[in-house]
Amino acid sequence: MIELKTPREFAAMRVAGRVVAEALTRARAAAAVGVTPVELDEVAREVLAEHNAGSSFLGYRPGFAPTPYPAVLCVSVNDAIVHGIPDNTPLRDGDLVSIDFGAHINGWHGDSAQSFIVGTADPADVDLIAATERALAAGIEAAVIGNRLGDIGHAIGTVARAGGYGVPPDFGGHGIGRAMHESPSVMNEGTPGRGLRLRAGMAIAIEPMLHIGGDDYRTDPDGWTLRTVDGTRAAHAEHTIAITEDGPQILTAP
Ligand code: MF3
Ligand code: CO
Repeated sequence: MIELKTPREFAAMRVAGRVVAEALTRARAAAAVGVTPVELDEVAREVLAEHNAGSSFLGYRPGFAPTPYPAVLCVSVNDAIVHGIPDNTPLRDGDLVSIDFGAHINGWHGDSAQSFIVGTADPADVDLIAATERALAAGIEAAVIGNRLGDIGHAIGTVARAGGYGVPPDFGGHGIGRAMHESPSVMNEGTPGRGLRLRAGMAIAIEPMLHIGGDDYRTDPDGWTLRTVDGTRAAHAEHTIAITEDGPQILTAP
């Protein structure tokens, strides 16, 4: 079932979304050569505490996961695609870092992610991140009333494939609201004109993941971290979006 939100409820989600944006901004600003993912997680925890917000991730256990998620931030470095658990490995010059964060306030969730490079950038990584951001923008642009879910997937997938990038087949976006993960699933590839019709009041997280190499991924022994099988780098970008009569609104904008 899809839970439609009222404008007031969208406003409540935006409160959570602002905290998410602030945590991402501050974690990203803290990221530098020699800093560890655990330290970035600590920055994100401080932001939660300052706003009396709860973590959407800490203790969360989706069907695919063997253990509850142990942190508030996902930090996915280089060939890690998503769901990287923060560890104590210092970031190195040229690392491609994806951070993903979710928070809830008054029972409403926000979820967002971004990718960036620490130190000296490889132009191929800059291109990958730019394509991932373009894919997210295209997906958001397609999130209009009357379109269908397949139009969003098609918009994302078209940008990804035009750049020659891989896309992991089983992971994508999702409905969001009183829970971080609600119906529907928002796939990163799709057929135009197919799937659920988009309606005012739907809140969805759109989250393209692009690989420099092939589509294939594997899961680390930790049961969480997804990595490209060929070792090529991956980028991730995500926003929580409200579908409204006035077009798509980004609820996780700073
Ligand atoms: N944006 C990610 C997702 O929707 C965040 C999940 S991390 C988890 O899958 F730890 F909460 F699972
Ligand atoms: Co998400």
